[in-house]
Amino acid sequence: MTDFNRIDDAGDLTGKVALTRVDFNVPMADGKITDDTRLVAAVETVNALRNKGAKVVLLAHFGRPKGEKVPEMSLAPVAPAFAKVIGHPVSFFEDCKGEGAKAAIEALEETGIILLENTRYYKGEEKNDPELAKEIAALGDLFVSDAFSAAHRAHVTTVGLAQFLPAYAGKSMERELDALNAALGTPKRPVVAVVGGAKVSSKIDLLKNLVSKVDYLVIGGGMANTFLAADGVDVGKSLCEHDLADTAKQIDANAKAAGCEIVLPVDLVCTKEFAANAPNRTCGLDDVAADEMILDAGPATVTRLESVMDEANTLIWNGPLGAFEMEPFDAATVAAAKAAGKRAKEGSLIAVAGGGDTVAALNHAGAAGDFTFISTAGGAFLEWMEGKALPGVEALKK
Ligand code: 3PG
Repeated sequence: MTDFNRIDDAGDLTGKVALTRVDFNVPMADGKITDDTRLVAAVETVNALRNKGAKVVLLAHFGRPKGEKVPEMSLAPVAPAFAKVIGHPVSFFEDCKGEGAKAAIEALEETGIILLENTRYYKGEEKNDPELAKEIAALGDLFVSDAFSAAHRAHVTTVGLAQFLPAYAGKSMERELDALNAALGTPKRPVVAVVGGAKVSSKIDLLKNLVSKVDYLVIGGGMANTFLAADGVDVGKSLCEHDLADTAKQIDANAKAAGCEIVLPVDLVCTKEFAANAPNRTCGLDDVAADEMILDAGPATVTRLESVMDEANTLIWNGPLGAFEMEPFDAATVAAAKAAGKRAKEGSLIAVAGGGDTVAALNHAGAAGDFTFISTAGGAFLEWMEGKALPGVEALKK
């Protein structure tokens, strides 16, 4: 997708104020940030704007305070953390609009950085209230949207500001959109999607969209059990949504009609106990005992996935293939992630991943660094995989 303005199109910004929406919704424990990935992701945009001469005003949400000033959801601790990450002082102001915020921005040095307080302290933020948008827009000269991971929300700071100010995609938004377009928009075929996780019910729309877009759909994790059971496989005590057998059959029929091959496990790792290192065995599809549960795909399945990856030019991954938080039930996820990472590193596969547990699973496999692109988004990545238009992306379109 190329029909949006980028920072490089903005010209000289000397003396201008760039209202920059970032996603600083970082994990925090005891007032300390436990993962600064999202802070690191904002650095390039902030520096690009400063290099053009702009003052950078950072707008962000933190948690879900639902229009209340919840002190635990203040962004105040994030300002010094971001200052450390970017290597430059970052001021903080206790409101995201009004005279006080205006004065704090005016007091900034040229190319200075300031973070404003949690935009969700105002009810109007999540309602995309035009009055609030106008008040916040009055603080700046341009709107830079760099929070792809919040782009599935139609809020003032993801959508509304674009109605009042010239809007640009930040560097990290730009990278996300370019990578996602390369994976599902105009991909190099064949395309393989790997979708894992516990429940089909949470990913029905995603599966329905993917079968019409990809050449292979690999289904893993608890979701695979639902598809196997619908095919008549006895899955014993495994996590399985038996009531979704018809949905699984329908997705299967849609896939056949669209020429997409659904790839299910061909062997399974079973155990009687849901615990790390529980005694387990690898078995065929017709051999799961009534008191056993399937916690991972077996080695023959991984071999099959590798041959699909050898054929594919593009891979898109969401969700683990087994109970990857517990050894040894992480084996298929780890082996498949390594196989995809290796091919991406060698240049034979464009490998893109994102959403919830996925990044944790790929990090656990030590493969994340080898992927072509890893999205920082959770919900937005899933909605994009479902084929939905994201309001925060639509708002940037020329
Ligand atoms: C996220 O953490 O995925 C984004 O910041 C969006 O947060 P939200 O789900 O509270 O809108």
